Amino acid sequence: MTPLRSREVRLNQPPTGIPKLEDFDIAEVEVPSPLPGSFIVRNSYCSIDPFMRMMMSELHPVDRSRSCRVGEVISGGAVGQVVESNSSAFAEGDWLVHQRGWREVSVVHDDDDGLRRIDPALSPVSTALGVLGMPGLTSWYGMCMYGVPKPDETVYVSSAGGAVGSLAAQLARSRGSRVIVSAGSPKKLEWLERLKFDAVFDYRARPVVDSLAELAPGGIDLYFDNVGGRHLEAAITNMAFAGRIIACGAVSIYNDSVPTPGPTNLDLLFTKELVVRGVRSRAHKDSYPEFLAEVAPMVASGAIEYAETIVGGIEKAPAAFIGLFSGTNVGKMLVEVTPQW
Ligand SMILES: NC(=O)c1ccc[n+]([C@@H]2O[C@H](COP(=O)([O-])OP(=O)(O)OC[C@H]3O[C@@H](n4cnc5c(N)ncnc54)[C@H](OP(=O)(O)O)[C@@H]3O)[C@@H](O)[C@H]2O)c1
Repeated sequence: MTPLRSREVRLNQPPTGIPKLEDFDIAEVEVPSPLPGSFIVRNSYCSIDPFMRMMMSELHPVDRSRSCRVGEVISGGAVGQVVESNSSAFAEGDWLVHQRGWREVSVVHDDDDGLRRIDPALSPVSTALGVLGMPGLTSWYGMCMYGVPKPDETVYVSSAGGAVGSLAAQLARSRGSRVIVSAGSPKKLEWLERLKFDAVFDYRARPVVDSLAELAPGGIDLYFDNVGGRHLEAAITNMAFAGRIIACGAVSIYNDSVPTPGPTNLDLLFTKELVVRGVRSRAHKDSYPEFLAEVAPMVASGAIEYAETIVGGIEKAPAAFIGLFSGTNVGKMLVEVTPQW
């Protein structure tokens, strides 16, 4: 049998500021036969995530063991089907999510971290990387388990037109809260208007602190933070007494080359008795069954809407990734693998 070939995206040089196309390389390799305990996956979609920028940064390493070094393939979520197996854990035909990153074909070991078998009958397989995958789990855990929004509360979600934010905001709405959302790109704002949140604002149109003061005159009870930086500072200024902040991400600072000074108003944490709670998806992977039991039926019934921005061809992954920092995605950013086989 002719061996499979696979194109893959590698880091060519560490990005400075917003990544550029020349920071990445495309290589083509022959896929080796799987050793005992391994299997070959033909990927259908590769995930494009903001945290990958942190993996390329000395300043914001996700954790040292997951840093991406020059010459390495960009690692992260991908979904695909097993085409050849030398493992007793996964058989030919099985669908799964793995973490071998931006490749057309991956050799996966059955004790890899982050393997998750999926049921393609549940939902389109692309959703296993978005609304029913890691971003969805993060939204659900952060919003429902830590944030616990209540019917009489005002909730604010930033980057609400993205993968994590769009689900977090809809979950808060499903709990009966008054939900304020923000985004920056016209397509996202249009989508958020259609989803009928209580208030939608464009963070680029005027200072976030002023928009929040106008839209939440009684204060924000719960802020789900995807952006950090100025958004976080503006939310802190506008929090209600004893408000809660869920720190999920800080996309506005991932491209910084020098440490950004924190919010200038941290004194409000004690004068308003605010609570800040971080959430990290990797800490809650055992909760996938509980998360899917609640959210998958809501997605299937249309009670929760999701969006995907899909670009075709693994060679487009760098451009899609760069687009995350100017907001070219609506909902989850994905690369559909269109291989040469
Ligand atoms: N804690 C965890 O385990 C975990 C897991 C997944 C994701 N996250 C974090 O959650 C956040 C959202 O992730 P996601 O995957 O759903 O990404 P996303 O929101 O789908 O995509 C990123 C979006 O960020 C916005 N953005 C980029 N630069 C910005 C800036 N300087 N200021 C304000 N907005 C900016 C853009 O939207 P606009 O058009 O609105 O500008 C862009 O589309 C990220 O911070 C990510 O790191 C955390």
